[in-house]
Amino acid sequence: MSDIKKIKDEFLDKLSKDLNIENVNQIKSELFGKNGQISNAFKNLGSFPPEERKKFASDLNFIKDELQEKINKKIQEIEIKEINSKLDNEKVDVTLPERNIIRGKIHPVSQVIDEISSIFSEVGFSVEEGPDVENEHYNFTALNTPDNHPARDMHDTFYLDDEKKLLLRTHTSPVQVRTMLKGKPPFKIIAPGRTYRSDSDQTHAPMFHQVEGLHIDKNINMGHLKGCLSYFIKSFFEVDKIKMRFRPSHFPFTEPSAEVDIGYELKDGKIEIGEGDKWLEILGCGMVHPNVLKNVKVNPDKYQGYAFGIGIDRLAMLKYGINDLRAFFETDYRWLNHFGFDPLDVPSNYRGLSR
Ligand code: DAH
Repeated sequence: MSDIKKIKDEFLDKLSKDLNIENVNQIKSELFGKNGQISNAFKNLGSFPPEERKKFASDLNFIKDELQEKINKKIQEIEIKEINSKLDNEKVDVTLPERNIIRGKIHPVSQVIDEISSIFSEVGFSVEEGPDVENEHYNFTALNTPDNHPARDMHDTFYLDDEKKLLLRTHTSPVQVRTMLKGKPPFKIIAPGRTYRSDSDQTHAPMFHQVEGLHIDKNINMGHLKGCLSYFIKSFFEVDKIKMRFRPSHFPFTEPSAEVDIGYELKDGKIEIGEGDKWLEILGCGMVHPNVLKNVKVNPDKYQGYAFGIGIDRLAMLKYGINDLRAFFETDYRWLNHFGFDPLDVPSNYRGLSR
């Protein structure tokens, strides 16, 4: 008994000192670990004569509980101390001045996509999307561009597999196919998005943006196409009058096909749309080829319509006076700060982008 009393006093003394969690764990293992003093005392119970064993066991249990309780208390104390010291040291200083909010700007391409979508939605077009990774069928074959058609080579396609079945879409035209396959005519949609071709110079980037247009119904003709494009160009460039010319062209998915030029002049080195006698090509269009309609199970004897494809980046460059297409995709903060657009809800402490 005196032995375990000594152990008790020794450890109660140890536990009354200033300890950290590691110290307490050490004490715990010295007492109750595999070779701990209390554990060993229990193992020795057998060596006591039976008449003493009961009393010793009861004293031992008592001391064990007392020590355990003391340890638990000590742990609690240490934890509370830690929390209090954290609260003291990590106070929030509410008197500090607020930080400037550094916010992004809206990229000119996103801005132009929003403008285009709202202009077309005013005259009944809805907005569709398609995937950037497209299959060869939707990108070419269903658009009346069979294997070995020269237009396939002209597109400098990024193929994603050896069989040339998967690719990065070279234009937004496959969204025409997807839209018509999943619904029933009439169709009146635009489809803005990213497109890809293996090409790069001042006016070409390997990734660029197009917006596709498609209007299919009974009795839609080229006059509607002309009216729609003229409305769009005037709204987009915010001018009352434009000069527009349709040049005969060829696309496999339209017949007849045309490229559209708009008139402009240079005033003080700046392009002014609508006046003057210079011409700028801005889009391709035409009446949807009957084969395309057949490929998507639309009867070309009942339905017809027009389609067009416009380069979005080109429009953004023209409207906002940006002359190198590659800058669009270089993620230069200074460039974006200059050409980007503020969101509508600008907070008072907004200082633009800074780095
Ligand atoms: N997909 C064509 C291209 O990227 C552009 C185009 C031309 C789209 C005529 C059309 C269209 O929908 O009718 O070169």
